[in-house]
Amino acid sequence: MTEVVWITGASSGLGAALARRVAQDGQVVAASARRRDKLAALAAEAGGGLIRPFPLDVEDPEALRAAVAQIEREAGPIGQAVLNAGIHQPVDPRDLKVEDFRRLVELNLMGTVYSLAAVLPGMIARRRGRIAIVASVAGYRGLPTAAAYGMTKAGLINMAEALRVELAPLGIIVQIVNPGFVRTPLTDRNAFPMPFLMAPEDAAEAFYRGLQSDRFEISFPKRLVWIMKLLRCLPAPLGFAVTRRLLPKERQPS
Ligand SMILES: NC(=O)c1ccc[n+]([C@@H]2O[C@H](COP(=O)([O-])OP(=O)(O)OC[C@H]3O[C@@H](n4cnc5c(N)ncnc54)[C@H](OP(=O)(O)O)[C@@H]3O)[C@@H](O)[C@H]2O)c1
Repeated sequence: MTEVVWITGASSGLGAALARRVAQDGQVVAASARRRDKLAALAAEAGGGLIRPFPLDVEDPEALRAAVAQIEREAGPIGQAVLNAGIHQPVDPRDLKVEDFRRLVELNLMGTVYSLAAVLPGMIARRRGRIAIVASVAGYRGLPTAAAYGMTKAGLINMAEALRVELAPLGIIVQIVNPGFVRTPLTDRNAFPMPFLMAPEDAAEAFYRGLQSDRFEISFPKRLVWIMKLLRCLPAPLGFAVTRRLLPKERQPS
């Protein structure tokens, strides 16, 4: 049976754009998310049975295990898993809501762990597979309003670094994907300026090219990635002098 590409968070934004790009190359995509109607529309648009919807909630480990088994039974073994489902929620420490942090940890971090738990046994048994975990350049360094989101993305980067080394001897390649700003429903809600904002199709192209390589990190757009990497390396006082400027206007020190 031909291997399939499994994408979570495929009902909109980056995941949907990547699903289209992969299908364009004639590969079969198992597209997962909660919204069945969006997945069905994506499948219909691609035509030829190249995008096959497998609705699920990544916060439900049992449903994930069942969906992965169904994908492998009905569509083929998962050769590439793209663990992309994620949400953003800005937080304000003046009104810290534990629930906001819990929600992001449960979905962005634990949702990825539950997805890994579902897909890894099959890959390990076959001694073959590729896993791309979607984090963010926001995981490089703590940024104002992103204490909760950045925490989950930094956690994913760290987890992927550990897994890369441990899974390589088992024939499994782990990659981390760190996008900058991409125009999607997630960023449509941002009121602040988003430098080097990318169209989802361009981001999907860079993403897809990265998946063809074995390099650890796939990141785009390059200009923002280098600025964010430089920010990470700056001495602490200098780094904070820069990030302080990213505070919302009304919270800037006078
Ligand atoms: N856009 C950017 O600038 C940017 C930058 C850096 C990183 N990222 C990351 O890229 C990924 C995709 O984001 P996006 O910008 O494409 O946002 P988006 O358009 O809002 O897509 C998020 C996807 O996650 C799915 N999802 C949310 N909760 C889910 C759940 N419980 N179970 C299954 N799927 C769930 C959503 O589908 P349903 O609602 O149908 O479930 C949707 O398909 C995220 O991990 C995000 O953090 C985005």
